[in-house]
Amino acid sequence: MSTFPVSEAVKRMRPSATLAAMQAAKDLKASGVDVIDLSVGEPDFDTPQHIKDYASEALQIGVTKYTPTAGIKSLQTAIAGFYEREFGAKFEANQIMATTGGKQAIFNAVCAITNPDDEVLLHQPFWVSFPEIVNFTGAKIVEIETESTEFVLTAAQVRATITPKTKLIIINSPGNPSGRVIPAAEFRRIIEICAEAGVFVVSDECYLKFVYQPNQMFSVAMLPAELREFVCIAGSFSKTLAMTGWRVGYSIANESWTRSMTKLQSHSTTHPTSFAQAACAAAFENWNETQKSLDSMLAEYARRREFLIPALRSIRGFKCAEPEGAFYAFPDKFQNPNRCKIAAAFGLNSARCRFTSERRTISTAQELKHTLLIWSRI
Ligand SMILES: Cc1ncc(COP(=O)(O)O)c(C=O)c1O
Repeated sequence: MSTFPVSEAVKRMRPSATLAAMQAAKDLKASGVDVIDLSVGEPDFDTPQHIKDYASEALQIGVTKYTPTAGIKSLQTAIAGFYEREFGAKFEANQIMATTGGKQAIFNAVCAITNPDDEVLLHQPFWVSFPEIVNFTGAKIVEIETESTEFVLTAAQVRATITPKTKLIIINSPGNPSGRVIPAAEFRRIIEICAEAGVFVVSDECYLKFVYQPNQMFSVAMLPAELREFVCIAGSFSKTLAMTGWRVGYSIANESWTRSMTKLQSHSTTHPTSFAQAACAAAFENWNETQKSLDSMLAEYARRREFLIPALRSIRGFKCAEPEGAFYAFPDKFQNPNRCKIAAAFGLNSARCRFTSERRTISTAQELKHTLLIWSRI
């Protein structure tokens, strides 16, 4: 039907570019083409065995029914326990809700607060879904260019961009695709400026645990409660524990914001899968075992990063700001008149699958250079 009456809200959105690229790469691979897939950021590790076991146990004992919209109590309690242990922050159950991945936490948070006349700030470079979620609401996107600060958002940039129409800013640190981390003091200043101006903040902390020495992990949960009033934390199990397909994330926000998000979710996905929630709760409850799995994945990411970043920088014409976190690199082909940014990743799907074809594994700087040079046609 050529005149299908798509709604204005959906018409404003573009499909996820990364998911479309991933599908195209899969289709090409299936037809025998040798493809280097630099699309979605997905760990190539499998979910740790103990978490799979928790899910099997939950299935066996019949955790197969509807749960409360905001998630099972044990998951809310486990999330609160994690934030108290790690950051000394106390959150009540009515501030926490389980979501279908971090993406739904962001979608809920933006939709629950934004109107078509509002302005929403996004710092460049940003994850592909941020603008489309904002487009869905009809609000106006205002981009903050961060090239002059090597892709690290600063308080001065935020202050200079806020207008009386600014309702919300989405902050992502460690960031996709830059890997950059906003230093703790600067992050605090940004939140203070937003709070002073009455601007709300979605802090996408999906890469919270992915910070490389000597850089320090920072969550807005570390800020005083009065500053946190303006912030919704969007968290995710996807990357942290190599659970992208499980679709479990969470939001932590003030009670009113959480109530609005719960209302929205109650009429969309209802809640994330029951036994996946139970497994995530157990993963947080048995944190020592979970931390061990996380540590071994982080050590491998760190090893790949040590290879990838110097290798990219050694290519004539390339520069690459230090990715202090996440599992991305964001090199810039700066001596070419047609400047272009290239996102690369060192998540497993990057170092092995992304930079690996069925026939060739990239294991030396020379091979990486060769591949990138051909690909970027320098
Ligand atoms: C910056 C960022 N935020 C959120 C997400 C959402 O992750 P998920 O919905 O799988 O939890 C992603 C996934 O790639 C991401 O890169």
